[in-house]
Amino acid sequence: MNKIQPKTLFVGKNIVYLPTCHSTNDIASEKIQNGEGIDGTIVITDHQTSGRGQRGNTWEALKAQNITMSLILKPSFLRPSEQFDLNMAVSTGIYQFFKANGTEGISIKWPNDIYINDKKAGGILIESTISGNNLNYSVIGIGLNINQNSFSNPRATSLTVETGSAEMPLDALVEQLCFYLETAYLSLKNGHKEEIKKKYLEIMFRAGRLSRFRDENGTFLGTIRGVDPVGKLIVEGEITEKSYDIKEIEYLFD
Ligand code: BTN
Repeated sequence: MNKIQPKTLFVGKNIVYLPTCHSTNDIASEKIQNGEGIDGTIVITDHQTSGRGQRGNTWEALKAQNITMSLILKPSFLRPSEQFDLNMAVSTGIYQFFKANGTEGISIKWPNDIYINDKKAGGILIESTISGNNLNYSVIGIGLNINQNSFSNPRATSLTVETGSAEMPLDALVEQLCFYLETAYLSLKNGHKEEIKKKYLEIMFRAGRLSRFRDENGTFLGTIRGVDPVGKLIVEGEITEKSYDIKEIEYLFD
């Protein structure tokens, strides 16, 4: 894995490969604190023992079967209120990566779960620091299910399960992923924020379709109408339209 050579300008040019570690996000944050946070560095492991997910969840992945990595970026061109733009750029980059590998039925379940045919195939955990009025460093934690074919969670899947293909080489996939992440990130940096948002809304899981959710008032039927500028989910309910933060709404599956 430390020999990967992505065709990129800076993403993945510096690689920290650890056969085993607790959490690549934590290692990446330590590198930043130690003054070793080179823009585009990838911290990657075969086996993560304390992987962290969103909402304080854990992230489980079988050893050497999946992509488990964190990318260090320095998005100082973004204000803290624009962090969701980075989220959308990374999500669309990962979408393009799955698409390039023959996957149909990919979508992004807000805010940034990667879904294939209504099952979760990957997750993203972005953790940023702020300096003055701008973002300083962002650690983009990425867990993608690639060759794993059994899951304790019935709503989880992987690239090879969905495409029916044989085991795929992780090194080559990571090189490709670096390329798609860099392309999406540079597009954001070059001011194409509106195109990225348009793409994100197009590929959003359940967007524009009446479906069931739960909020503090109970379950309801609603339709996703988009995301607001800070990334809250806009859902049109039976009576009103509301914007939700991550902990305030749950998607229900029948
Ligand atoms: C989620 O869907 O809840 C986000 C999961 C993010 C998991 C990745 S795996 C690599 C990186 N290191 C971590 O501890 N978490 C992220």
